[in-house]
Order: sequence, then C-alpha cells, then structure tokens
Amino acid sequence: MTIIKMSDLKLKNKRVLLREDLNVPLKNGEPTSDLRIRAALPTIKAAMQAGAKVMILSHLGRPEEGSSDPQFSLAPVAAVLSKLLKKEVPLIPNWINGFDMGDHNVVLLENVRLIPGEKENKAELAKKMASLCDVFVMDAFATAHRAEVSTCGIIEYAPIACAGPLLISELEALRNIMHNPKHPVVAIVGGSKVSTKLGLLESLSHKVDTLIIGGGIANTFIAAQGYTVGRSLYEPDLIDVAEQLTLNAQQRGAEIPIPTDVIVAEKLSEDAESSARLVSQVDDNEKIYDLGPDTIKKYVGIIKKAKTILWNGPVGAFEIEQFGEGTEAIAQAIAESKGFSVAGGGDTLAAIEKYHIADKIDYISTGGGAFLSYLEGKPLPAIDALEHHVSKHEKVT
Ligand code: 3PG
Repeated sequence: MTIIKMSDLKLKNKRVLLREDLNVPLKNGEPTSDLRIRAALPTIKAAMQAGAKVMILSHLGRPEEGSSDPQFSLAPVAAVLSKLLKKEVPLIPNWINGFDMGDHNVVLLENVRLIPGEKENKAELAKKMASLCDVFVMDAFATAHRAEVSTCGIIEYAPIACAGPLLISELEALRNIMHNPKHPVVAIVGGSKVSTKLGLLESLSHKVDTLIIGGGIANTFIAAQGYTVGRSLYEPDLIDVAEQLTLNAQQRGAEIPIPTDVIVAEKLSEDAESSARLVSQVDDNEKIYDLGPDTIKKYVGIIKKAKTILWNGPVGAFEIEQFGEGTEAIAQAIAESKGFSVAGGGDTLAAIEKYHIADKIDYISTGGGAFLSYLEGKPLPAIDALEHHVSKHEKVT
C-alpha cells in the first residue's frame, strides 16, 4: 500500500501541522548535536516555500504529562531553528486549544509530551490536535515506532495526513538496504548486550553475508566458542542464542566472525593500561574493551569489499582513547568504502561525529529505536496509520 506524500499536495495558505523529531541531546540548555534539526530543515523550508502556515510539532525527552519543568522546553530548539532559518521561529506554549500565528508563517509548538493524553494516544486529544490543521505531515521517522497522538492517533482525524520528505527518504534508504541490497552485504553491530539487540541480530543473521559484532555483544559470541572472557561484560544466558545465530548465518553460507585478538585492561578509565591479546589468552582478571589489531585488519578488508554496509553501534569503548582504535578503523573503512552505507543509533552518531565521517556515509538515519524496529522487521505504527489513511482518502487534492 502507498502513502500520500507532502510533495503530492498543494499547501498554499494551508495550516500545516508538521511532526518532526527535534528530540536533541541538551547540555547546559544547548543542543550538543543539531543533526535532527538540520535533517528536518528541508521539509520545513519546502512547506514554507509552498506557501503554508507551518506549525512544527515535536517532543523533547520523557517528561511527566502536565509538567512545566523548563528542562523539557523546546526553547533551545526554537533558538537553533531561528538561526538556521534566518528568521524568528516563536515558541508557542499552551497551544492545544488554539492560538494565533500572527504574521509568522512558521512557529514551533511547545513539547507535545507535556500534554496529558499524548503518550496514551487518547482519541479526544487526537481530535483536538487534528482540528488545528488542514494538513498533517508526519516527517519524524525517529518516532515512527511510537503509537502516540502526535505520531499516530492524529492521522485518523486529520483532514489529510501525509508523509514528509525526511520520512520518505529514511524509509527508502532502509528498504533499499533490507529488501534490495547489492551483495556482499556487511552489517556491523556493536553495543554492550546481545539481549538489547537480539531482534536485530536475528534479523540480520538471515540477510547479510557477514555480520561483524563488537563490544559486549562480541564477548558473548567469544564465550560461545569456548574462550574465557575474564571479567568482561557478557551474557552467559545467551550463549545458546549466539550459537544459533552463528548457525543461521553458516547455513546460508554467511558468517559471523569472532575477533581473533582483542584489547584488554583491568578497568575502563582514561589511565587504564591496555594490552593486545590473542582471544585465547585473556586473563581471568582482564576485561575486553576493543578489537585487536589483526581483527581490525581483517574486518577493514571485509568492509572495503562490501557493496552494502549497515552500521549500528561502536565495536569498543571508543569514548576512551586507548579503546577507540577498532571503532575508528571501522568508521574510516566505511567512509572509504564504495559500497552504499547506512548508519544509525545514538552511539553510532557520536562515533560518526567524533571521527568526522558524516559526509562520507550515504545515509545517516535520525532514528534510534525506530531504526532498530525497522531493521528487526517490526511494524511502525505511524507508517501503518498513514497507509490506512490513504485507503480512506482515495482522492488526493
Ligand atoms: C529517540 O530519541 O529515539 C526518539 O526521539 C524517540 O524518543 P523516545 O524513545 O523517548 O520515544
């Protein structure tokens, strides 16, 4: 089934309610990354240029509904938006019962998660929110996995609901990589626990040619091969699962290699003394914090030959210098590869920023949980709602 696209609609003089994900990390009241704000800009500009009255809608963090805690205000985002758009973007508080845009053709509505009923996707709130607009544009891929009023419920009651260009491009990049990839396909999945990425690992073990694992996830696979991982983080309960995933891949002629050497230390700190070890020689009191040099060389070779690359999660404790070589080398290999590359997830974005390779990755997803949900093959409620909406509106104006 298809969905209506914002570019299919005439927006002149229309009240357009535009759901973006402007949930950016803040430190001392300032965004530490404006990636999501910049990603939303082309959609905002396109709606403005089409002559719409643009009301931007987003959540920030996970506040208590009804709270007025200033740390959940979108004021810092309004300031960045004003700078990027080179015009004042006023922040509208208490907007749900209606408001006047005055002479402005773009405004930002205060954090939608402060409104009671948003999280529980209450129909009454959805009707009220929908009545504020002529057209609802869902552009927030990063919240497409949430069934909340502003991502999902409103679609049922909006006169017309459509997908914005950012949402469309995210879906196209991910569809491309999951359903129509050029082989060899290589996925790199890092992070601390197999349990939090089980769905992703399971899904990828049936699809990719090589699944490179790193971080605590690799430790569980190393233990599954019978090696000691010392005091490293690993999940003994998931050793069977690691074996099964490896078997899934092998049965298709694919592989989930484990590191042949690793970087170990006794503690995770800036002043920790690190050493390289064969994976068979990790001491009982040591912890694994990164891939070793031979493993890095092998993985870089695999990535360079890939035609499609998916990256989610660092392969070591890269925030500390002596444990960052694996993640840096993987990042550089992806940057230099001629294959189509897609990356996503909070820690992955931090690594991309740290190693300055953002412009060398073909597609950087704004989604964290939504990115994983899609790759796991789970439904995205917002997309389902947009598809359902089309079936009710055969005639698009
Ligand atoms: C995210 O940061 O992944 C999205 O903004 C969704 O936020 P949530 O997990 O609080 O729903």
